Amino acid sequence: MENNTVSVDLGERSYDIVIGAGLDLSALCADLNGRRGLVITDSHVGPLHADRICKQLEACGAVVSLVDVPAGEATKSLDVMPGLFSRAIQHGMDRSSFMCALGGGMIGDLVGFTAATYLRGIEFIQLPTSLLAMVDSSVGGKTGVNLPEGKNLVGSFYQPSRVLADLNVLKTLSKREFLSGMAEVVKYGIIYDSDFFDFIEQHVDDIQSMAPDVLAQLVKRSCEIKADVVAKDEREGGLRAILNYGHTLGHAIEQVDGYGAWLHGEAISIGMVYASRLSVQSAGLSEDEAERISALLKRLDLPTRRVTSAAVSLERQDIPWSELRDVMSADKKSKASIPRFVLADAIGKVRFGCEVTEACMEETWNVCH
Ligand SMILES: NC(=O)c1ccc[n+]([C@@H]2O[C@H](COP(=O)([O-])OP(=O)(O)OC[C@H]3O[C@@H](n4cnc5c(N)ncnc54)[C@H](O)[C@@H]3O)[C@@H](O)[C@H]2O)c1
Ligand SMILES: [Zn+2]
Repeated sequence: MENNTVSVDLGERSYDIVIGAGLDLSALCADLNGRRGLVITDSHVGPLHADRICKQLEACGAVVSLVDVPAGEATKSLDVMPGLFSRAIQHGMDRSSFMCALGGGMIGDLVGFTAATYLRGIEFIQLPTSLLAMVDSSVGGKTGVNLPEGKNLVGSFYQPSRVLADLNVLKTLSKREFLSGMAEVVKYGIIYDSDFFDFIEQHVDDIQSMAPDVLAQLVKRSCEIKADVVAKDEREGGLRAILNYGHTLGHAIEQVDGYGAWLHGEAISIGMVYASRLSVQSAGLSEDEAERISALLKRLDLPTRRVTSAAVSLERQDIPWSELRDVMSADKKSKASIPRFVLADAIGKVRFGCEVTEACMEETWNVCH
């Protein structure tokens, strides 16, 4: 399979995303010759993929050192950064050095912020290994860490110099993580491109069997859509909000059930079904289209309702609407405590910043939780 390239157009911060199966970094990183860098990965991905990556970078003439941090969201923390800075200093890294994030979105966010702040910013390379990282977190330049008070509260916008997505590494990702990433892929179809939504519908079997040529098209189109949205709104003043389709309720579910109960994409899948139902009530989406959305998510083995999912065991079967509603009001994206939704007028066409009535929010939850 030939490599595919998607350009992210951000003026002097523009960069390419290269997508392929079995990427050879020695051809894609020749400019690293003679430079020092850290490859930072997590304890799941490191043993599987770090050796090959370091060898390829060394073949370019780079002098690399590998750092392995514990897998899991708890590592995306300020506390981990001093250790990474020390390793960079020990490795003799200066302003011409680079950091590579080899892992999922957790590693991408942590390493991006570390690269953004080491010596006021050195080159940052994304080597995403989860589907979510390939189609979402490695594109767009948001980096950061969590605080005990909440997720992603400290960070910066910092663009990578390149994103190299090797589809072969997805073979070692768990099926559940893979399908969770598919929720964001379906989201791109809903918010931006009905043809892409059709394409996903027509290729569910190939997706389930992870057929490489179909995966390549999914990742490429998802990156194109995210890149397009980000190029129009790099710092999240407007259009970028559409990327939050399904996230208003999805984030609240992640929080009330305790982080870790749901994978992000699973909670977003439930949130997208909810947003679709709201869209039938308060925007132009037809019943048929809302049904297509939830049917597609089901065929991808994603949950469409909170209580009936087999994937997770919930500590509480029922949560009162008022509790979810309160969590939604506290969301960064709500204004004056009123949650804002992205609503669809059709598959492929959405608007953002929408308010819906209290009754509509609650009734919709009552029929689809
Ligand atoms: N910056 C952004 O724009 C943005 C967007 C969305 C999400 N995020 C962040 O991304 C993170 C979630 O990303 P994620 O879902 O990739 O989580 P993750 O990085 O924690 O990866 C999920 C799990 O899969 C493992 N893994 C990853 N790739 C693997 C592979 N190829 N083989 C085997 N195991 C593999 C990881 O070790 C981990 O256990 C969150 O921190 C979220 O806040 C950031
Ligand atoms: Zn998301």
